[in-house]
Amino acid sequence: MRKIGVLTSGGDSPGMNAALRAVVRCGINEGFEVYGIYRGFAGLIDGEIEKMDRVSVADILQRGGTVLKTARSDRFLTEDGQNRAINMLKTFGIDSVVIIGGDGSLRGGEELSKKGITVMGIPGTIDNDLAYTDYTIGFDTAVNTVLDAITKIRDTSSAHERTTIIEVMGRNCGDIALYSGLGGGAEYVLIPEVKSDFTDICKKVVQGVNRGKQHSIIIKAEGYPMKSEDLVQGISEVTGRETKLVVLSYLQRGGSPTLRDRQIATLCGAKAVDLLKENSQSKAIGVVGGKILEYDLHEAMQQTRDIDMEMYELVDILSR
Ligand code: F6P
Repeated sequence: MRKIGVLTSGGDSPGMNAALRAVVRCGINEGFEVYGIYRGFAGLIDGEIEKMDRVSVADILQRGGTVLKTARSDRFLTEDGQNRAINMLKTFGIDSVVIIGGDGSLRGGEELSKKGITVMGIPGTIDNDLAYTDYTIGFDTAVNTVLDAITKIRDTSSAHERTTIIEVMGRNCGDIALYSGLGGGAEYVLIPEVKSDFTDICKKVVQGVNRGKQHSIIIKAEGYPMKSEDLVQGISEVTGRETKLVVLSYLQRGGSPTLRDRQIATLCGAKAVDLLKENSQSKAIGVVGGKILEYDLHEAMQQTRDIDMEMYELVDILSR
């Protein structure tokens, strides 16, 4: 019986469990033995590997985080670590691994693939920063968490007639900030992909006050190259408006996945098993134009992406 492994790696994201459940249950349905690899590549090197059955993934569809646990492994970045990982897979008789994770995790998958393991990459990260796919699992839940926070912060910002800077995650990608800024009606969105002029930010706040706005909400992506504390100080000095900072941090990584995240995770998990059944070579699975598609893993990881400038400009137009 063919043995396949599945792991989650890097920052957890809501929907990873849904993808895992689909891989395990569809895999068993196709006659594979499915092995859960705990703690990402670190657990792979250490042989933290257990056979899974249908019950192993019961009652996890609705849970955030990952029941397989996750880690960022420095050892796997070395040739020695990678060789140990390969030997461990050989010891268990596993020839294929489904990797659910972000950019770093799928790049780790490329290394396994170069050494003869078939890898199916499923995009699991709140950052939405993988170029080959329109969408990464966890992004929708994270943005909805940010929206909920914006709605609440708006109430208190209005009551005190303040400016609030909300710092969101995303690493080097501004999508969480941009999408939540659009949906949450932010006055300004600061993202790593676009250079913003400090004077312009302050001007926007003052213009808003002059036209009767009771609050200003600025969404700042963590990758924007200015410290949030410096922005708070600068804006309050220049505009004369009380300015507060809210860092949402890990709050936006947790929570029960939305329908969109559960659905895409489930479809990607099922696709990974289909591809393995067809004896496919290593692939990156993603969503393009609403369809679940697969790409050569190496080619997918070479792609680069641009921010949606139309959306960025729309946020500005709508908040004038
Ligand atoms: O990649 C997901 C993410 O949450 C990023 O947005 C953030 O920069 C990073 O992970 C934080 O990583 P860690 O959990 O290692 O602090």
